[in-house]
Amino acid sequence: MTDPLSRWRAHAEGAVLLDGFHALKHALRFGAEVPAAVTTDRAAALALAEELAGDVRATLDALLAEVSEREYASLVPRPHPTGVAALAVRPSRAAQLRALARTPRTAPVVVLDNPRNLGNAGAVIRLAAGFGATGVVTTGTLDPWHPTVVRGGAGLHFATAVERLDVAELPAGPLFALDPEGEDIRGTRLPDDAVLAFGSERTGLSAQLRARADHLLALPMRPQVSSYNLATSVAMTLYHWSATGGAPAA
Ligand SMILES: C[S@@+](CC[C@H](N)C(=O)[O-])C[C@H]1O[C@@H](n2cnc3c(N)ncnc32)[C@H](O)[C@@H]1O
Repeated sequence: MTDPLSRWRAHAEGAVLLDGFHALKHALRFGAEVPAAVTTDRAAALALAEELAGDVRATLDALLAEVSEREYASLVPRPHPTGVAALAVRPSRAAQLRALARTPRTAPVVVLDNPRNLGNAGAVIRLAAGFGATGVVTTGTLDPWHPTVVRGGAGLHFATAVERLDVAELPAGPLFALDPEGEDIRGTRLPDDAVLAFGSERTGLSAQLRARADHLLALPMRPQVSSYNLATSVAMTLYHWSATGGAPAA
């Protein structure tokens, strides 16, 4: 099957949409299986690869099929400025669970307890990828592989494990829950096998998560400020882990 549109449609069901050049670049770097990739301008996409992603240029050259703007718009809901889109195979739940359970754990797992905002979830996955975290687990109803989350994560879902679990199924390891009422995080060194949990944007940590927590930690905050944004809280906590001994994976 050589026609790019037929190829796309044959792989679309259940696949992860990689929207834009950077999402495709990241996904390829971290081993995603990409059965279909299209662009409205092959020469421009390959020039961008030459400039920004020489490591995946040859792969992109082999993968990218040129389609018209009308054909491209029929495949993606919101055309990306780079005119590039691709489909990746979503890793199996079993593979994600294996990655989350692997021991000894060399970097924390981030837990988002019932997050509501898809953009926050995407930003957190991007952070987890950058810091080399073991994975991002969500509890509750939000699908961490929702297309808007994947868009926010810039294709970096493939650089870390991403899965939805119940609180009772969370990976083993000391659980540090972040809450403005906790102990100042600056007095604590976070171990590499930590499970770092963050509450919902609306209601904070659930009673179930609090009951499972070994420690409650607070990020420094001036009086009269109620809380930080969820994704920025994850950023500060991962930075604290890295600055006190943990290190982004090479
Ligand atoms: C927007 S806040 C939740 C605010 C919510 N109204 C509440 O009652 O907690 C989202 C999450 O970010 C984390 N967070 C925000 N500010 C924090 C702080 N100063 N210290 C520790 N965690 C914080 C917590 O995990 C919190 O549940």
